[in-house]
Amino acid sequence: MKLLFSKEVIARRIGQLAARINRDYGERPVVLVVLLKGAQLFAADLCRHLTCPVRLEFMRVCSYGAETASSGCPRILLDLDEQLRDCHILLVDDILDTGLTLHHLSRHLRQHQPASIRTCVLIDKYERRQVAIAADYAAIELQQGFVVGFGMDYNEQYRNLDAIYCLEAEDLAKESHP
Ligand code: XMP
Repeated sequence: MKLLFSKEVIARRIGQLAARINRDYGERPVVLVVLLKGAQLFAADLCRHLTCPVRLEFMRVCSYGAETASSGCPRILLDLDEQLRDCHILLVDDILDTGLTLHHLSRHLRQHQPASIRTCVLIDKYERRQVAIAADYAAIELQQGFVVGFGMDYNEQYRNLDAIYCLEAEDLAKESHP
């Protein structure tokens, strides 16, 4: 595994991102809709920098399983149990990759008739984009690679690492023949 972003770099980027969000939202209350499981550590750090009133809600979608390629159709495993009408929603995910997850969920959340929906990701990984979607807020930009750590997993491993690493071919081989 190769180190891509140390915990110090991640902390600095999240602080800078939060400063932008604070400037944009001012005093307006925001609902962070956090996608489990990958975005939980990012959201935990981000929300502690936010100065506007913050509400936290969680959803869970499944797009990968034990693979490194998107299945193409994200499935909602845990939906919101509250209406978010007239709220300012900030949809928080770990990675924007093909774009299918955030595209699908933004459409789903529009049914709540929120005042606004914006997207916020720890990493914008732009090479494999399949739908025209850009993150409103991204802490880190990356061209390619399957990354783990800081909440992100491969086959439920590595979420607890405090830095972000790129999985290399030999790591993937090890996982399939331990
Ligand atoms: P899409 O392709 O829908 O992907 O934009 C978003 C979801 O895919 C997961 N994903 C990754 N997870 N390392 C991970 O641990 C990666 O490099 C990676 N790329 C995509 C992620 O969970 C995100 O919610």
